[in-house]
Amino acid sequence: MFQIKQQTQADSAVVEELMIKAFGPNRYERSVWALRPGEPVETLCLVGYDDDQPVGSLRFWEIMLGDETILLLGPLAVEPHVRGQGFGQQLVIEGMRRARFGRWRLVLVSGEPDYYPKFGFTPAASFGLEWPGFVEPERLQFCELVPGALASLPKSGLIVRGITPAV
Ligand SMILES: CC(C)(COP(=O)(O)OP(=O)(O)OC[C@H]1O[C@@H](n2cnc3c(N)ncnc32)[C@H](O)[C@@H]1OP(=O)(O)O)[C@@H](O)C(=O)NCCC(=O)NCCS
Repeated sequence: MFQIKQQTQADSAVVEELMIKAFGPNRYERSVWALRPGEPVETLCLVGYDDDQPVGSLRFWEIMLGDETILLLGPLAVEPHVRGQGFGQQLVIEGMRRARFGRWRLVLVSGEPDYYPKFGFTPAASFGLEWPGFVEPERLQFCELVPGALASLPKSGLIVRGITPAV
């Protein structure tokens, strides 16, 4: 049975291994990591267990979109040997459900253009976001947590940046 729980300290090593398997050892070179200088949102760090074995991970970071704090979805990863069974989908659905309890209006993802629309994500390309480095524009997708949030955004000049933790 697949179960989703909030990540604990005990899961850290397994999540790290999963990240390496899914994204390789050079994953921090991808521009999206420039948006994650601090820690993820603790309540939105989820681990998926298949028969008590941790096999999936989804985390969210807070980022700035212009002067608004929004959520960045990801990284999302599922162990290769259990992919295609809906575990990734369940993690995203549960993560978005929990995200709706927060104060954020929007979630942004840099992800596969074919994977996220089924969860309500729509292309962000028309907003011409200023992203910290290279990204294929079609990977950027928004999902509203509060209806109407996208309509209230300016259509240009929105800078996406990470939140550096206070020391
Ligand atoms: C992407 C990932 C998390 C999906 O996990 P999963 O448990 O296999 O996902 P699900 O079983 O819920 O969904 C499988 C569906 O997603 C599709 N899918 C899987 N990877 C995809 C991708 N990279 N792009 C588009 N669709 C993808 C499958 O074709 C399948 O489609 P179907 O439901 O129409 O048959 C997993 O493949 C993974 O860890 N990949 C490596 C890490 C990665 O690329 N993560 C970022 C995703 S943007």
